[in-house]
Amino acid sequence: MQFNLDDVREQFPALAITDGNVPRIYFDNPAGTQVPLGVLGKMRECLVESNANIQGNFRTSDLVDATITEAHQAMADMLNAPSADEIVFGQNMTTITLHLSRSIGRLLSPGDEIILTRMDHDGNVGPWLMLAEDLGLEVKWLPFDTETFEFDLAALDELLTSRTRLICVGGASNLLGTINDVKQICAKAREVGALSYVDAVQSVPHVSTDVQDIGCDFLVCSAYKFFGPHQGILWGRREVLEKLTPYKVRPAPTAIPGCLETGTQSHEGMAGTLAAVDYFAWIGETMALDYHDHYRHFSGRRQFVHAAMDCLFDYEKTLAEKLLSGLQSLPGVRVHGITSPDAFERRVPTVSFSVDGLDPEKIAADLASCNIFVWNGHMYAVEAAKALEIYDSGGAVRVGPVHYNSVAEVETVLNALEDILPRANAA
Ligand SMILES: Cc1ncc(COP(=O)(O)O)c(C=O)c1O
Repeated sequence: MQFNLDDVREQFPALAITDGNVPRIYFDNPAGTQVPLGVLGKMRECLVESNANIQGNFRTSDLVDATITEAHQAMADMLNAPSADEIVFGQNMTTITLHLSRSIGRLLSPGDEIILTRMDHDGNVGPWLMLAEDLGLEVKWLPFDTETFEFDLAALDELLTSRTRLICVGGASNLLGTINDVKQICAKAREVGALSYVDAVQSVPHVSTDVQDIGCDFLVCSAYKFFGPHQGILWGRREVLEKLTPYKVRPAPTAIPGCLETGTQSHEGMAGTLAAVDYFAWIGETMALDYHDHYRHFSGRRQFVHAAMDCLFDYEKTLAEKLLSGLQSLPGVRVHGITSPDAFERRVPTVSFSVDGLDPEKIAADLASCNIFVWNGHMYAVEAAKALEIYDSGGAVRVGPVHYNSVAEVETVLNALEDILPRANAA
């Protein structure tokens, strides 16, 4: 069976909600996705049947321990991690990164160089700037081309030196939608002996993610962006994780991953994350049969999840194509991202645009009055918004489809904009 949108949408109760008979159209997905029934059920089950702290000597604690073990394994499958104990759960990407940056900092010395990018979300910038300030590190910036919306990797070669210790880069931009060549960037980091930290928050919901193929040292993502609950997840290469000094309290475990999972975790969040991975596996098993061959080297859930991601990517490309061609035909609209269909392999369907002279907040509010949910502003991609010179003018409007959106919903947002933009211009 091929991708079946009706079957997919039935899994998401939120998609059926209307307000005064007007359906909700969710294009705020890069800020957080809706959740399928399996996630809701698993979280409920966790809270009803196994609501206890971990490693006690009684039934509910045994059950939650089992769920936590399964959740680590599910994320190992999702990211093709060599082992489940390299998966670290935490509150969200930002908190994990702030926390882990302290431990990574113990490996660095004053005068060491780190490379940050002008494209990344501040979750992969701010924590490292603070670390640099604390330790006296030198920060170098990798720019992106504001015409192509991609990095020029020759520019990275110019930045790398024998003192480079760390490169922090995003898998996909939450503002531009660009998918970055993290494999090549991590290879360049390795050549000079630097560690690499990949913020995959915006790529994991859209593309198959294989940490072994990427060759990074750390990769971090957030389940609430891929149809799970509010939960952050980090993968770290075992040799590197074991070298870190964990910031932890004394009685906490000393081995990975427990030494990095501080305090009492969100067990229901891990349960929901497990179910989100199983949701992808369901798609892979039932709708992505044509894609199984891409992952013959995997088996079981791992193969299904990765096949599902390729299948969903192809479907999402049709949404991106429709959205981008429609936006480009609207007068005055400036898309901040790749628009050429030839390059759609290098973008997720997240599309940001602005209209000269119009406040993005006003456009988002007008769409909200039609029950169409989009984001506006700089979306925490502070450096990118500054590079595009939209930081001081309210940023952009971001329309972010995912695989549960339909072509009809894309048409609805385009029709609404066709109506809204001339009115706003005239006002
Ligand atoms: C690319 C990217 N990185 C990091 C974050 C921060 O994620 P979290 O909310 O899990 O801290 C976001 C959130 O939007 C994001 O889009």
